[in-house]
Amino acid sequence: MFTKESLEKLRERIDLIEVVSGHVELKRAGAAHKALCPFHQEKSPSFMIQKGESHYHCFGCGAHGDAIQFLMNHLNFSFIEAVESLAERFHVTLERQDQLGEKGVDKAALKEACNLASEFFHACLLHTEEGKAPLNYLYKRGISFDFIRRFQVGFGPSDGTLIRKVLAKEKIDESTLIEAGLLTEEKRSFFRDRITFPIRTSTGSIIGFSARKYKEDTFGGKYINTPETPLFKKSRILFGLNYSRRRIIKERCALIVEGQVDCLKMIESGLNLTVAALGTAFGEGHAEELKKLQVREAYLLFDGDEAGRSAASKVGDLLQKKGIDVYVVSLPKGSDPDAYLMQFGTQRLLEELEQAEAYLSFQIAFLGRELNLDSPAGKAELVKTLKKQIELWEEPVMVHESLRKIASLIHVPEEMMGVKHSHVPLFVKNHGFLLPNPVDTQRVIELDLLRWLIVMEDQFLPTARTYLSEKHFFTASCRLLFQKIIEEGRADLLTLASVVQDQSLLDEILQKKINRERAEPLFLETVQKLLDREWMQMREMIRMQIHSGEHSEEKILELAKQFDALKSSRPLASMVK
Ligand code: CTP
Ligand code: MN
Repeated sequence: MFTKESLEKLRERIDLIEVVSGHVELKRAGAAHKALCPFHQEKSPSFMIQKGESHYHCFGCGAHGDAIQFLMNHLNFSFIEAVESLAERFHVTLERQDQLGEKGVDKAALKEACNLASEFFHACLLHTEEGKAPLNYLYKRGISFDFIRRFQVGFGPSDGTLIRKVLAKEKIDESTLIEAGLLTEEKRSFFRDRITFPIRTSTGSIIGFSARKYKEDTFGGKYINTPETPLFKKSRILFGLNYSRRRIIKERCALIVEGQVDCLKMIESGLNLTVAALGTAFGEGHAEELKKLQVREAYLLFDGDEAGRSAASKVGDLLQKKGIDVYVVSLPKGSDPDAYLMQFGTQRLLEELEQAEAYLSFQIAFLGRELNLDSPAGKAELVKTLKKQIELWEEPVMVHESLRKIASLIHVPEEMMGVKHSHVPLFVKNHGFLLPNPVDTQRVIELDLLRWLIVMEDQFLPTARTYLSEKHFFTASCRLLFQKIIEEGRADLLTLASVVQDQSLLDEILQKKINRERAEPLFLETVQKLLDREWMQMREMIRMQIHSGEHSEEKILELAKQFDALKSSRPLASMVK
C-alpha cells in the first residue's frame, strides 16, 4: 500500500510519451504523437498521445489508458509492478504506509545501492587498467562489447574498499551496503577481482550479483552470488525474466537453462523467453513463479553431462507436477547453451528445440539406463517407479494421459499402469475439480462496472453519473472507488490507488480484458444489474416490514402501495435492450 502523497508525486512526474516511446515507435504529428497501435494489428497509425496528456488513445480499437495501464496491458505488469517501475524511472521514492512496520527495511534504499554498485562495476570493467584482463577474458569467450553494455556486465576491483568510498559519495552508508549484500561484515567488497552479472527482478531493478572468477587461482568457487538479503530471495528469482517476461507470457512457454551466461546468450540470440535459476538449483519456488506467469510449456536446455540429465529429470518432474508440459533438449556431451550457440549458431539450436523430447520418453530413457528393459523384471521396476512419480502430479488429466502414454511407450497394458476407464476418473472427484468456483457474484458485478469506467471513462462516465450512486455498491472498496471516480470526473489510477485498502484490487479490475466491440450493450447490462439489485433489495425491505407484525393496518396499507409502485417501476429497463 503506497501513500497517497507518493502516488500524487509520481503522477506529476510521469511523462507518458517517454514511457510509451520505450516500447512503441512514436512519430510527431503536430501537437500529438502517433504510432501503430500495439494493441491491435494495423497498417496506418491510429494510436495517439496528445502532448501533455496523461492518457493514450487508439482511434482504431478504442484502447485507452494512462502510463500504468500501458505497462499493465503491454508488458503484463501488475499494478504494483507498474507503479514501482515508473517510480524508479522518474526518480520518485515511494513510501508505503507499512514501510516502517516491515522490520524497518527500506527496500528502495537497498535497490538504489545495488543500482549504483552495478554502474560502478560496469565502469571498472570498461574504464580501468585493472578491468583490461577480465574484459579480455570476456572477449575471448565470445562476449561482445554490445553484450557487456546491454546486460551491464561489470568487474569488482580487487581493492575491497573502493566500492564503499565511491558509494559514500552518493550518500549510501555502510549499513545499507552490508544489508544489500555488497559488503561483508568486515566491510570489504563481497565481489573482489571477479566479473559481475547483475541479477534483476522481473521489472528490471537490480537486487544482487552473480560474480565469476576469470583466473584459475582466484579464491573460492567459480561463481559467487549475493547472499540472501531482504531483496534477494534465491529460491524464487528467475534470472533473465525482465528480458523474457513479455514473450513468456505471450507464448505461455519458457526455456530454462542452468547458467547466467547461457541465459543471456540465449536472450541475445533472440530467444528472449529464457530464464535460469541462480545460486541454487531450480526448485519449487521457481516452478511456482512460472506457474504465476501461466506457462504451459517449458523446454529444459541443461548441460550435456550426467549432472545436466539428472537435473532435467528432477526439474522436469517438478514442472510436470504443476501441470506444465516439459520438453528436454539433450545437448552434446560437454556442451551447454552458451557453447552450443558459439559452435553451431542459433538456427541449429532452434532445430534442437523443435526436436526436443517430451518429458515422459526422456524420463523412461533416463530411468531405463540402469535397467534391462528387455527383461520382465526390468520393465516391472520401471513401471513401478514411473507410476509412483506420476501419481503425485497435480493435474488429474495429465496423470491420466501420462499413464496411458507410458503404457504405449513401453508396451505394457494400460491396466498395469493403473489407468482407470470410468468416464469420470476417480481422482477428479477427489480433487473437487467438478465443483463450481465459489465466486462472489455480487462483487464481480461491481468490479465489472468499475472496469468499464476506468477503461472507457470518456464514453461511460456520464451514463454512470446519471443512473448510479454509491448506494448501488455493496462492497466497501468498490464503493470508495466509484465515489472517487465520480468526484474527480475521471478515472486516474494513481488517485484511485490511494483510496483503497488493498491495491491489488486494481489488478483484479484491470487484468480482465474487455470486449470493445460490444462495449455499449455490455456496459449497460452491467448498469442494469446494479440497478436491479438495488431495486430488488428495496422491495425486499418493504416486504419484510409488511410481514414484521410491527406496523398498524394503516401503515401496512401504505407500505403495500409503495411496494406496488416500486414493482411497476423497474429502473432504466427501457434503455437496455
Ligand atoms: N554455479 C554457482 N557456483 C559455482 C558453480 C556454478 O553458483 N561454483 C551456478 C552458476 O549460476 C552457473 C550454474 O551454476 O552459471 C551452472 O554451472 P556451470 O555449468 O558450471 O557454469 P556455466 O554456467 O557453464 O558457467 P561458465 O560458462 O561461466 O563456466
Ligand atoms: Mn558455460
